Amino acid sequence: MGRLIVIEGLDGAGKNTMARAVTEALTERGARVISRAFPRYGEDIHADLARDGLHGRLGDLTESVNGMALLFALDRRAAAEQLRADLDRADIVLVDRYVASNAAYGAARLRQDADGEFIDWVRALEVDRFGIPVPDEQLLLRVPVEVAADRARSRESDDATRARDSYESDDSLQSRCGRVYEQLAERNWLSPWRVVDGAGQVDAASLVVTL
Ligand code: TMP
Ligand code: MG
Repeated sequence: MGRLIVIEGLDGAGKNTMARAVTEALTERGARVISRAFPRYGEDIHADLARDGLHGRLGDLTESVNGMALLFALDRRAAAEQLRADLDRADIVLVDRYVASNAAYGAARLRQDADGEFIDWVRALEVDRFGIPVPDEQLLLRVPVEVAADRARSRESDDATRARDSYESDDSLQSRCGRVYEQLAERNWLSPWRVVDGAGQVDAASLVVTL
């Protein structure tokens, strides 16, 4: 049975780059690694609908924090069997965003903190009701909110298909979300968390020794 390890962080934190570096370093050490990412755009209808919502194409659904979170959650629900199969055949299943993204962004949208009721709503929905696999460990890739915002902005100007969505262009949401992530990590929400400094180059080789 493999371990489910999740990478979390703000938009523009560099999760994707970190996931690639960690996968490579683990593979070099002989581990069987499967990497996954949520939302599963182009693969799951709920993920594609969530993207529509993020880009203002679902009318007033986007305004509903629970409505948006439900779309993200249904994407994970539909992936649960696949994840369990992955865990059966890999040593590590590395996931770029998971249930804590729903908790952190939703709580931040509602101006709640990690003790608020939204976090418990997400856990009850996704873990208790949908039965998604619970992470074994979560890594918070921490970068100053300005750095993350700059990266998201430059992604947008480099690539026409990467127009920033409504969460990415909301600096105040991102900074509240950063604070909720810090609290989730402090409280070891759902699993042990580790904070990784993402301001510079992440040293994946030394990180994976301890995974
Ligand atoms: P992305 O930037 O990784 O494509 O994700 C889209 C946005 O949706 C991002 O701002 C984080 C947010 N999100 C949630 O609110 N809940 C979730 O479950 C996931 C996976 C993402
Ligand atoms: Mg994004």
